[in-house]
Amino acid sequence: MANIQSLRGMKDILNDDSELFTYFISNASKIASRYGFSYLETPILEETALFKRSVGESSDIVGKEMYQFIDKGDNDVCLRPEGTAGVVRMFVQNKLDRAGGGANRFFYHGPMFRYERPQKGRLREFHQFGCESFGESSVYEDANIILMISEILSFFGIEYELQLNSLGCKECMPSYKENLVQHLEDLTLCTDCNRRITTNPIRVLDCKNETCQNELKNAPKITNSLCDVCNTDFEKLKEILNNNNISYEIDSNLVRGLDYYTKTAFEFVSTNIGAQSAIAGGGRYDRLVEFLGGKETPAIGFAIGIERLLELIIIKQEQEELMYIGSMSEDASDLVFSLVNKKRKNIEVITDYKVRNFNKHLKNAQKLNATTVVLIGDNELKDNTVWIKNLNTKEEKTISINDL
Ligand code: HAM
Repeated sequence: MANIQSLRGMKDILNDDSELFTYFISNASKIASRYGFSYLETPILEETALFKRSVGESSDIVGKEMYQFIDKGDNDVCLRPEGTAGVVRMFVQNKLDRAGGGANRFFYHGPMFRYERPQKGRLREFHQFGCESFGESSVYEDANIILMISEILSFFGIEYELQLNSLGCKECMPSYKENLVQHLEDLTLCTDCNRRITTNPIRVLDCKNETCQNELKNAPKITNSLCDVCNTDFEKLKEILNNNNISYEIDSNLVRGLDYYTKTAFEFVSTNIGAQSAIAGGGRYDRLVEFLGGKETPAIGFAIGIERLLELIIIKQEQEELMYIGSMSEDASDLVFSLVNKKRKNIEVITDYKVRNFNKHLKNAQKLNATTVVLIGDNELKDNTVWIKNLNTKEEKTISINDL
């Protein structure tokens, strides 16, 4: 009988990748906390209707890629394809839209599921690190979010290009769409585009088909049709980014694959990871809270695809202290055990309960990437001392146990 394998497009994360993965989550979380975001978890399984109403029925994600099924209680459910919808559901369900008292900012990370055709950088189960900010309509929040993503990517040594667009609001988007549809009706486009002309015409703009892109060369640009408010905000956003040395490119065809966006939309891409180059994406979704039954609340967020970053992350060399404490005599084991627990209150400590000789402990500590080794044998026990070596500087000495 053949061994059971993981499903197509789903991967175990282990060894070097798991180290990078936890390194990413812990440092990205620290940065997000500094920007005022607090950690949140929402369920992986949600009602299918949630994604239909938010991500949108015309999107590929809902139309073709959902892991959707009827559960034992006859509920139509699906594994979340993205994180924003669940966070907005939580926001409305907990009446945070009616709570007042300033912005609410959340960050999350976890698995997302899309039944896509797997290829390099495109999985069926992948992980996102995302942030969502509610209640702040100021364009400074858009800038704040973009600066934060830039800080996160720079922390890990990741080079990126930022693509930026404004999709307009309920005032300017409808007339733009009408205009666009009129233009599209005269073009020869692929079947997907022809379907989208009626379901969500702006999605035609980012069709990957070369013939369609050629046809679309003279299509009207949304950035030329923005209302005064959207235009002023977009100009202000560009000015703030310029003042903060964030370079960007305006891409008026950047419409994103999810239907909930309004105004600012952006993508961070890397030129070093192949065809699936988007490492983060997001934007404003000022109408989504209302669409999901809440009180009109401005909102903006983004998500980073963690798997796409893994081969780009450079771990900073400033190693945190990791102490290895080992016993070289049966009689020293109790003391080692209590020392380990005492030191753990301040730094990371590893041990090996086995009594080993000096050389074996040292090898073990090196293998585990310890920065300091502390060993105790019969002599040290007798003298109330420990032998200690700094594995970076190679300095070694015997010190009183109280000085450890
Ligand atoms: P998204 O652009 O669909 O946006 O996904 C965000 C990121 O997830 C992408 O830039 C990419 O790095 C990663 N990603 C997407 N699909 C896959 C896949 N099949 N395999 C590997 N990585 C993938 C969203 O999901 C929005 N919820 C972002 C957002 C939050 N907008 C506002 N708030």
